[in-house]
Amino acid sequence: MLPAVATIHHAGRRLELTPATLLAPMSGVTDTVFRRFIRDLGGCGLIMTEFTSADGLVRSEKVARRYLSFAEEERPIAAQLFGSDPEILAEAAQVVERMGFDSIDLNLGCPAKKVVKCNGGSGLLRDLPLLGRMFDRIRSAVTLPFTVKFRAGWDEKQLVHVELARMAEAAGVNGLALHARTREQGYSGQAQWHWIAEVKQAVKIPVFGNGDVRTPEDAAALVAATGCDGVMIGRAAASNPWIFRQMEAYRLTGAYPLPTAADRAQLMTNYFNRLVALPNPGNLGKMKQFATWFTHGLEAGGGLRKAVYEAHTEDEVMARVDAFFASELTPV
Ligand SMILES: Cc1cc2nc3c(=O)[nH]c(=O)nc-3n(C[C@H](O)[C@H](O)[C@H](O)COP(=O)(O)O)c2cc1C
Repeated sequence: MLPAVATIHHAGRRLELTPATLLAPMSGVTDTVFRRFIRDLGGCGLIMTEFTSADGLVRSEKVARRYLSFAEEERPIAAQLFGSDPEILAEAAQVVERMGFDSIDLNLGCPAKKVVKCNGGSGLLRDLPLLGRMFDRIRSAVTLPFTVKFRAGWDEKQLVHVELARMAEAAGVNGLALHARTREQGYSGQAQWHWIAEVKQAVKIPVFGNGDVRTPEDAAALVAATGCDGVMIGRAAASNPWIFRQMEAYRLTGAYPLPTAADRAQLMTNYFNRLVALPNPGNLGKMKQFATWFTHGLEAGGGLRKAVYEAHTEDEVMARVDAFFASELTPV
């Protein structure tokens, strides 16, 4: 069963995750609006920002403001960085500490070409000595709890998860989250949860399992199969933002409620209202993206997706969502 609490600590600083669940960093998704939305729904132990370039952060305050602004109500919150220059990462980590984050996370899993090309994200999985220097420099630059999120290796022939986990622990990293796929796998195939079990057996620091958890039952199965200390959820949080609350109910009672159509209508309107309250040129795209995820598997969801996709303005999206749910919710 999912643990009630997980603790990440460093040098007298303790970060308690109650319950032991984490919102996975998702670029383009887990901005401050989405994070507050998840926080309000309840049940999430730790929230993370989208990944942020360490170089960008050191070079420009605008990057910090754009990607790393957060509200007090989001706490506890971790900032995720990517980069490959140990000195720049150390400097960026200090910016994160000064901004008041509760912990810092280093991304070693991103398969995106743009990130790998500059030797960030999963590209680093092929250069363990450089990783070692990065861990050391970040660790000595800040007193914040420091975690690493990584994939198991570049491909199945070059698995490094156990070696990397041991190295990180020796360098003073305080927690690990493994997305149990290789870089080559992208998002295809199944997450190999046994790699999470192998990491858990190799280190004493908390290990969080990530990959293909879609339901509270999956989360319980992941913990049972691996002994991991907590569960990190990505895509399922976008299609079912109630998942954290459901996991908490399942942990406490063995059952959890399913949202009704009215709950969905309210939730979608609530999220869209929050988006449009903060003027941002990306809002329309986010509304369309969220509508796609959120209506996945929903009866008549195709109609709503189409209606939202064909809208040209934020107001038009709102009107179409209202109209859709008004007809869906009208008793026949
Ligand atoms: C749209 C999207 C954006 C992502 N962005 C990030 C990111 O910024 N940093 C990161 O470490 N992982 C990122 N990921 C990977 C997720 O954090 C997570 O590891 C992956 O989706 C597997 O978990 P899931 O099966 O619960 O979705 C992203 C995934 C998606 C789908």
